[in-house]
Amino acid sequence: PPGFNIAIDGPAGSGKSTVARKLAQKLGLLYVDTGAMYRAVTYLVLKSGIDPADESAVTAFTQGLRFSLVRFLPKGVVDLWCNGEEVTPYLREPEVSRRVAEIAALRGVREHLVRCQRLFARKGGVVMEGRDIGTVVLPDSEYKFFLTAAPDVRLARREKELLADGRHFTKEELRREMNYRDEMDLKREIAPLKPASDAVVIDCTSLTVEEVVAKMLRICRGV
Ligand code: C5P
Repeated sequence: PPGFNIAIDGPAGSGKSTVARKLAQKLGLLYVDTGAMYRAVTYLVLKSGIDPADESAVTAFTQGLRFSLVRFLPKGVVDLWCNGEEVTPYLREPEVSRRVAEIAALRGVREHLVRCQRLFARKGGVVMEGRDIGTVVLPDSEYKFFLTAAPDVRLARREKELLADGRHFTKEELRREMNYRDEMDLKREIAPLKPASDAVVIDCTSLTVEEVVAKMLRICRGV
């Protein structure tokens, strides 16, 4: 049906971004990366010199942020803009990756971003990817998926992504950052990472991107 939404959640490195982007492309839907929005807040907070631990300052700052998605057809690339600034190029900076889980645990930040995310999805037609999409942001979405993968596989995927992006790091640094982020995302009080009760859980450890996308397409098409 036109106007349906698809929610995809899972931990870092589960492959959800690649899969979500491909699925959106195949179905002609808009791809929304909510992790990018938390990263954008983190980047802008750090840039403006606000102490990330100062909850009321971070919350007030976040409430002034307006997000827009710019889609480049026909490649299906979607860029995130925030208050008129293109932020996509800065979202994978190591300092942003290190601090994002802390910022994402703040109630005021989540409330504002969830409101923005629901606006993006209000007319339907989005594939939205994150940690709490099926549980909190779009609990009524027509299709919900939760992707998992073995820790080693997730680490190797993140490593490949970062290398492709021209980033330098040691495997140990990356392992530590991912463990810390997973732990924060799983254990936080507000909207922790967990599958919605009605989500289809897909273990991507030994599946290719194409296989996962094909599985999802079969479910969305009801075959
Ligand atoms: O998806 P990505 O790894 O880029 O997300 C970065 C961080 O943003 C996550 O580790 C998590 O702390 C936060 N996040 C969140 N809720 C979402 C998406 C991301 O808390 N829906």
